[in-house]
Amino acid sequence: MRTANVILAAGSGTRMKSDLPKVLHPLLGRPMVAWTVEMAEAVGDQQPVLVVGHGKEQVKALLGDRAEFVEQKELLGTGHAVQQAAPVLQGRADAVVVTYGDMPLLRAETVRSLVDLFARERQASVQTALAMLTVVRDYPQGFGRVVRDAQGEVVRIVEEADCTPQQRALRELNPGIYCFDAEWLWQNLGQIPLSAKGEYYLTDMVGMAVEQGRRVVATPAPLDEVNGINTRVHLAEAAQILRYRVLEAHMLAGVTVVDPAATYVDAEVRIGRDSVLLPGVMLEGDTQIGEHAQIGPYSRIVNSRIGSRCRVQNSVVEDTIMEDDCQIGPFGHLRKGAHLGCGVHMGNFGEVKNSYLAPGVKMGHFSYLGDAQVGENVNIGAWTITCNYDGARKHRTVIGEGVFIGSDTLLVAPVEVGEGAKTGAGAVVTHDVPPHTVVVGVPARPMNPKPHTGERSKSA
Ligand code: UD1
Ligand code: CA
Repeated sequence: MRTANVILAAGSGTRMKSDLPKVLHPLLGRPMVAWTVEMAEAVGDQQPVLVVGHGKEQVKALLGDRAEFVEQKELLGTGHAVQQAAPVLQGRADAVVVTYGDMPLLRAETVRSLVDLFARERQASVQTALAMLTVVRDYPQGFGRVVRDAQGEVVRIVEEADCTPQQRALRELNPGIYCFDAEWLWQNLGQIPLSAKGEYYLTDMVGMAVEQGRRVVATPAPLDEVNGINTRVHLAEAAQILRYRVLEAHMLAGVTVVDPAATYVDAEVRIGRDSVLLPGVMLEGDTQIGEHAQIGPYSRIVNSRIGSRCRVQNSVVEDTIMEDDCQIGPFGHLRKGAHLGCGVHMGNFGEVKNSYLAPGVKMGHFSYLGDAQVGENVNIGAWTITCNYDGARKHRTVIGEGVFIGSDTLLVAPVEVGEGAKTGAGAVVTHDVPPHTVVVGVPARPMNPKPHTGERSKSA
């Protein structure tokens, strides 16, 4: 059975009170609608069709080729919205699943069981027109009611505004998720009557099927999966649920999360076994953490690769690569283009931007390296600063292998410190330093070599 997904996402989302289209509001680093697209990818066997309207260009730009887009030019209701997908799906699918771009909690398992139900019932009887999910809850406000006959068969859905008092009291509700027989759907979508509100309700398809003597089957869905997002309050509630789901998957895969309520991990983040996330950790965007790492407390890592056995404590790490066995913090900042080789140690109040620190570099306290290349086993003394910006342009600093940079050194770029050289405390280095040379002072000059008598203690 060829199964296609139609995702409705043309609504304007006025209650978000936002300049951003509702379905693009981020949830764990992904636009809301991408959660539904991912669900649809897991359920269908072809690219989902997204019905767009409000903010369509932005939606298209963000999803790219993950969906096929059809435009609903006028918002004439959910039935009209699905109809926009007919030209691309006709003849391409046997079953059509309808879901929504503002229902990010809906799980693939739930929709798959609906599709399976439809497939079984369709095989049992060609008269089966559709399968739908229903939910039961005590507060039915905002939902269409599911009306059943004396035999318990679903006969139609009544929108809240059109309910009689008895219908309004019904507690079985329509979450709006259906799996249709494609042929029947395309044949009948055009027959939906215009509602009093001036819309074509997809829900009318249920009553139409029953009137034609077709079968409608229903199966219960978990309540927390079908809450649509209409306000930023709903957005926060959904984020909380999704965060726990994501953390649960990491915990089951071998990651320790000390306090899930205080840990924020975006959907795409990968974390190796035996890593530990301490409270206050935010792992964002395209971030990857190796094994046996310890992150936190209170650290934010964005779009970065963190190797195995790294330790990141009370620090901010953005667009950075940390190879294995590195440490940073407390209170370190790695910015765009920072690359720490294996075993680099950065202590408190260090900042590194657009620089490579080779394996074994130590930078313990209060230092800034920008646009620098630092050789193996260099020691960066406290308060070292690369003066990489002359007010107009950025310049590079190159520090050779095994260099010892004394405390409070200013490296005025462009400048190069040759391998094995040393700078004295407070040196202002304005010229290149030859290898194995000691420079001191302001501006830094080679120190007068002391005579090496080997007899100093005696002559003193
Ligand atoms: C719909 C159902 C209702 C169900 C409820 C569950 C209909 C007529 N009613 O009502 O039975 O209980 O969902 O949440 O289907 N959309 C479009 N184009 C349109 C209209 C809507 O793309 O022309 C999209 C919206 O962006 C939204 C979704 O469809 O994501 C639902 O539309 P909405 O108008 O909110 O329907 P409800 O009144 O909630
Ligand atoms: Ca709604």
